[in-house]
Amino acid sequence: MPFSHRIQAVEGSKSVGLASLVGKLKSEGHDIIGLHVGEPDFPPPPEVIEATQKALTDLKVRYSLVPGIPELREAIADRFSKRSGKKVNLENILVSNGSKQILYNLFQCFIHEGDEVIIPAPYWVTFPESIKLAGGSPVIVKSRDDLGLDLEAIEAAITPKTKMILFNTPNNPSSAVYAKEDLLKVGELAKKHDLLVVSDEAYESLVFAPNVHTSIASLSEDLFERTITVQTLSKSHCLTGYRVGYMIAPKKFIEPVNKLQSHLNGNVCTFAQYGALEALTMDQTYFEDMVKTMVKRKDLAYGLTKEIFKCHEPQGAFYLFPSLDGYENRFKTCSEAAEFILREAKVAILPGSAFGIDGYLRISFASHEDLIKEALKRIKEALK
Ligand SMILES: Cc1ncc(COP(=O)(O)O)c(C=O)c1O
Repeated sequence: MPFSHRIQAVEGSKSVGLASLVGKLKSEGHDIIGLHVGEPDFPPPPEVIEATQKALTDLKVRYSLVPGIPELREAIADRFSKRSGKKVNLENILVSNGSKQILYNLFQCFIHEGDEVIIPAPYWVTFPESIKLAGGSPVIVKSRDDLGLDLEAIEAAITPKTKMILFNTPNNPSSAVYAKEDLLKVGELAKKHDLLVVSDEAYESLVFAPNVHTSIASLSEDLFERTITVQTLSKSHCLTGYRVGYMIAPKKFIEPVNKLQSHLNGNVCTFAQYGALEALTMDQTYFEDMVKTMVKRKDLAYGLTKEIFKCHEPQGAFYLFPSLDGYENRFKTCSEAAEFILREAKVAILPGSAFGIDGYLRISFASHEDLIKEALKRIKEALK
């Protein structure tokens, strides 16, 4: 067999796989509405495009420092300090090619062969696969009502091999925003068993009142010292294609990742970093308005979805996560349901099994309101 054991052990991303199938169906003339996407449909604001173009004109086209240009790291540190209340500086920041690469880097740097990483399910698809690529074992722990952290189950899953607890809040796909009290309890477990905590906060700016986002790293000095926070400009600043994600951590954790990255990719595209800098330092009204639009879409999509499925109201991010309760006689698995919906309703959504949990569907509402209405009308009719 020509392929390494590592790559054979890993599954391809189901959301990326579905995106290429949808692209193919659309190019063949099928009228597919894609509610499978994990990116805001807003373009970056003109200021960001102009700053990126200016960076090119100014020949910002050389290698940059491995952890990122200092101005960008300072802007990131400033944002995190203001939003979380925990003061950090540029030495606590490393920029990488999206949070995907941050996660890959982290597991390569902190996981020994056979180490276990506890992940509450449902989880983001990339988590278990990037742990396996580092020789680690993902240990999946089902969440309470498939939504909130089940702290007893998490503690029961801890063994002498456990190295890390990894979660994401707001959660993709369940939309759960973890409560501060639960994060404090995670912190107690991490301290008691001397574990690292990795908190992926890709959707931290998309939280629906009365829910409030909490960065676990801000809760105590002990937690800051054992936590790596993973964030990105992909969702908060509509920059998915720029590939600018970052980690916030004590300097002792930045150093090994910097060493790895110096051999892996060097730096993130230099002129993209200047565009990202503009996105963080410009007037933020554009992005705040995007969040307001997402709230309207959430209300619309949730109202229509409730008429078809049992569903909790999204707390953050831009996903609905309805259950297939009541449809058990019709579909054996949620993949079957998602395939049926794609075939009959011509709407692309993802099965919960892609996120480690059967019996659910993930519907993105990061689309125009007319598309949301039409898609949910079609699903309702197809399931009649
Ligand atoms: C929880 C979570 N983390 C990270 C990412 C990836 O972000 P990036 O574009 O920074 O790699 C996603 C994308 O869907 C996500 O849902």
